[in-house]
Order: sequence, then C-alpha cells, then structure tokens
Amino acid sequence: MAKLKSAFFCQNCGTQFAKWQGQCTACKEWNTIVEELVSKPDKNDWKATTTVKTKNAKPLLIHEIDSAKEARLDTFDAEFNRVLGGGLVPGSLTLLGGDPGIGKSTLCLQIALKLPYKTLYVSGEESQKQIKMRAERINPVNNTCFILTETKTQHIFKQIEALEPDIVVIDSIQTLQSDYIESSAGSISQVKECTTELIKFAKETNTPVILIGHITKDGNIAGPKILEHMVDTVLHFEGDRNHVFRILRANKNRFGSTNELGIYEMQGTGLREVSNPSELLISEKDGELSGNAIAATLEGVRPLMIEVQALVSTAVYGTPQRSATGFNAKRLNMLLAVLEKRAGFRLGAKDVFLNITGGITVDDPAIDLAVVAAILSSNEDEALPSNYCFAAEVGLSGEIRPVQRVEQRILEAEKLGFSTIFVSKYNKISIKPKCIKIQLISKIEDVVGFLV
Ligand code: TYD
Ligand code: MG
Repeated sequence: MAKLKSAFFCQNCGTQFAKWQGQCTACKEWNTIVEELVSKPDKNDWKATTTVKTKNAKPLLIHEIDSAKEARLDTFDAEFNRVLGGGLVPGSLTLLGGDPGIGKSTLCLQIALKLPYKTLYVSGEESQKQIKMRAERINPVNNTCFILTETKTQHIFKQIEALEPDIVVIDSIQTLQSDYIESSAGSISQVKECTTELIKFAKETNTPVILIGHITKDGNIAGPKILEHMVDTVLHFEGDRNHVFRILRANKNRFGSTNELGIYEMQGTGLREVSNPSELLISEKDGELSGNAIAATLEGVRPLMIEVQALVSTAVYGTPQRSATGFNAKRLNMLLAVLEKRAGFRLGAKDVFLNITGGITVDDPAIDLAVVAAILSSNEDEALPSNYCFAAEVGLSGEIRPVQRVEQRILEAEKLGFSTIFVSKYNKISIKPKCIKIQLISKIEDVVGFLV
C-alpha cells in the first residue's frame, strides 16, 4: 500500500501545490485551492500488465502527412451525428455535460441501444435493474449492449479487456475512482486521473469513449477546467426541465464545427430527434391573437422560427413591472425605451411581460424586431397577420440594423409558408425568393407604420 500523501489542487485549473495558498499562481483565481489525499501511482497505465510500445515520433513534412478523412462511427442518431460533425471519431473522448435530470443518461443509453456495434455502458450511478427499466421505455434494438455497474477504473478496464467493446459510455466521470489515487470519487485529482487513464485507453485501442459529466451551479463541468482541455469534444445538453425541448451543443470540437446544434424532444419513450424544430416551436392556435410575433432566428448555424409573446397592460402597482422569460430583461428595457423615445409610445406606466415559447433562451439579436412587433401588437390589442415574420436588430436610435445570414433566414421562412419577412434595409440580399415578400425597413417608425 502506498504511503498516504496529500496535496493541494486548484479547483479551477487543476494545478497542484505543495501547500495551501489563497490565490492560485497559475490561473490567478482566489479561494480555489483545496487539499486532497493522493498516493503516488506506482504505474498508472490503463492496463498495468502490458507495457506499451511507444514509437518515437518523427517530424514529418506537412505535405507528406496522409490527410485521409477521419473514419467516423455512425451513431444512428442524426442530431448527435450533426453536432459531432458526422459521427464519433475512433479513439476520441467526448464529454457530455448538463444539468441533473436533463436527460444525459437517457441520451447515452438511447445511443448505445441504437448502435449495431458492441457497446459497453458503464454506470456508477444506477443499478443494472434501473437501467433495464429505463431501456424498456426506450425500446431497445441492440442485442450487443452490455451494462456494467462499477466505479473502479481498474475493474472497468479488466471487463473491457474481456469484452472488447466498440464503444464505451461512462456515466459519470465524477463517480469513477482509480486505485492509484486515495482521494474520494469526484475530487479533482480523481477526475483528472480517471480521465487520463480513459484517454490512454481510448487512444491505444482506438475505441471512442463518451463520458457524462456533472455541471456546477454556474454551468461549468464539475472538476478541473483542465478536463475540458484533455478531451476531444465537449458537448452540452441544455434546456428547461419543465419543457420538452432539449438542445445539444458542441462547446469544443477537435473534429468539427462548434456551430452545429441538435434538438430533441423528451417523450415518455425517450428522446425524439427533432429534424424540423421551427414547426414545433410555433404554437398552434385558433385565429390570430394580439401580442404574438414570429422571429426568424439562428441557433448556431440552424435557422429557427421562434414565437415571441408580449403582454402590455396598465400597471396595477405604482411601479410598472417588466419581466422576460427566455430573453434578456435589460434588452427588453432598452427596446421599451427606444419605442418610447423614437416612436412616441408611452409605455412607462405599463406592465410589460415577454415570453419566448418552447422554454428556449435566445441570444440572437435578430429577435429584437419580433419583440418590438409583439409589444406593439399587444399595446394596440391588434393581432399581427400570422404569416408575417421578423429578422432584424434594433439600435438605440431606433435604426433597424442588419443581421448575419439573412438569406438563410428568408429561405427558412419561405419554406414554412410565411408571406412577408421584415428585414433591415441595410442587409445585402442577393436571392430573389418567389413565394415570400421581403419588406425592407430602416427605422422603427417604419415598423409602426406597417403594423399599427
Ligand atoms: P436522466 O436521463 O436520468 O437525466 P440525467 O442523466 O441528465 O441526470 O433523466 C431525464 C429525465 O427524463 C427524468 O426526469 C425522466 C425523464 N424521462 C422521460 O420523460 N422519458 C423517458 O423515456 C425517460 C427514459 C426519462
Ligand atoms: Mg444520469
């Protein structure tokens, strides 16, 4: 048994120190250093029995390097493939983070069950029975999906050696424990050590590994930041737990773009891939209602038509209330001020509530014009034609500003049968769509003229 030893680690960057100090000298964060028990590993190979033959790397001329396209393992999940950039790369480590209960385990189990390869799903959180119950809801098809409940990495690797799976899923990295480190599971040194062992395993056997990671209160993956540097791909699974939509995003991807987005819908039978989200995000209703406007937004590179709902009413209390769900409240106040100053609407004494339907949070500035239109519509209690949509940013002086990729938004709106799209006059548009009218506007007064 190795001698017990403790060391101090920065929780932010994972740097090790001999003694405690208030500020980490590496990342300059304060109060992030904690003591953890460690014992020096005697040999920290993922397979302690085999000696790895290391070839000495030689520098190669760039044109001599074989640029053959990375082979990809199809995950049989169009949304997951899209976010990964075409499938899992052999030997890669993918870290999937997200809030508790958002559906990380469901997503991974579902993928493991869809694959026609030999997969090993290792869970340190649930029993085999619990996983079986979940699998029954999802309706399994894969006859070669093995479930292992284990937290010791050395035992996991022993099983992997016997089984030789094509894909390994670990649920979750925070529950793993390596014998080489004394500290408890989930501590920084354990997370780092277990990830290092998994990376070695993945690279040496060319097996893709998907790791599930917990996230902290502020939305970062729990454990040292260095974890995100170590793995090849970092995915985030997000959404509002009370709504059915889940968004899968790549925050880092060594093999593809980070602009892609996957959308799922949580159902009683697992997660359903949503290939045309716009149709689902626009709520169906009988007749036109005031206070609703549709924005042609972009999430990453994907166009999304989103419904904005506003309610403007006379303030009941002395101070008018402003509240926004899914939209920045400061931005809402700014747009109200612009409407008051540039278009003469006296909204100062009114309560204004704003809601983005579907439980989605939108950062795209192109939603501004739809927010303004929804507020105007509610204020006047006049419904907008349901086949109008909007894509422009509103500036402080009431100017309608251009947005990026406007043509993509126009085509999406046309595809969904909208008759008119309002965009900035300053956008350069070279397409001439047949079925949709492009209404160019330059000032907020123009919008008022069209809508009120
Ligand atoms: P889970 O996948 O365990 O989340 P995580 O691993 O991210 O903590 O649970 C997701 C939630 O989804 C859970 O509250 C139950 C629900 N759920 C469904 O609505 N339908 C289903 O088919 C399944 C399997 C889960
Ligand atoms: Mg889970």
